[in-house]
Amino acid sequence: MKIAVYPGSFDPVTNGHVDVIERASRMFGKVYVAVIRNPEKEAYFALKDRMEMLKQATRHIKNVAVDSFSGLLVDYAKKKGALAIIRGLRVGSDFDYEFQMALTNRKLNPKIETVFFMTDGKYAFLSSSLVKQIAKLRGALTGMVPPNVAKKMKGVV
Ligand code: PNS
Repeated sequence: MKIAVYPGSFDPVTNGHVDVIERASRMFGKVYVAVIRNPEKEAYFALKDRMEMLKQATRHIKNVAVDSFSGLLVDYAKKKGALAIIRGLRVGSDFDYEFQMALTNRKLNPKIETVFFMTDGKYAFLSSSLVKQIAKLRGALTGMVPPNVAKKMKGVV
């Protein structure tokens, strides 16, 4: 079975992430959505909450499991038996960071390929940071995040 990991902060998960997860789940037998623990940048939502939001938002996809990781991503991917790391690409400004990470990960483990999914056009503007800003300013999150995330954000942001 072809296994992939989709790593990220998911602080919180957006509809853009869910779209990538759905598309990746059609190409791979199993997709581990891996939430980073102890990232360099501090997360707004606790790990437990980020994972719970992801679990609810992806429960309609049978071959997806939500997990967490710390340490090197390639080591986690190897442990899971993954042949690919999934990342989403939106606008051009994503490219430099993603290119650097993909080449670093290849240097660390050449057996693990990074596979990029181009965002669906309707999510090209979307980011977890913007979503948090909109929620803080009491704006509508319609179409930007799964319903369970919108509900959660109303309560805490
Ligand atoms: O959603 P994000 O914040 O863009 O995700 C970044 C993430 C988690 C993919 C990245 O920070 C990561 O892979 N961290 C693990 C540490 C690591 O393996 N570093 C070396 C390769 S860049």
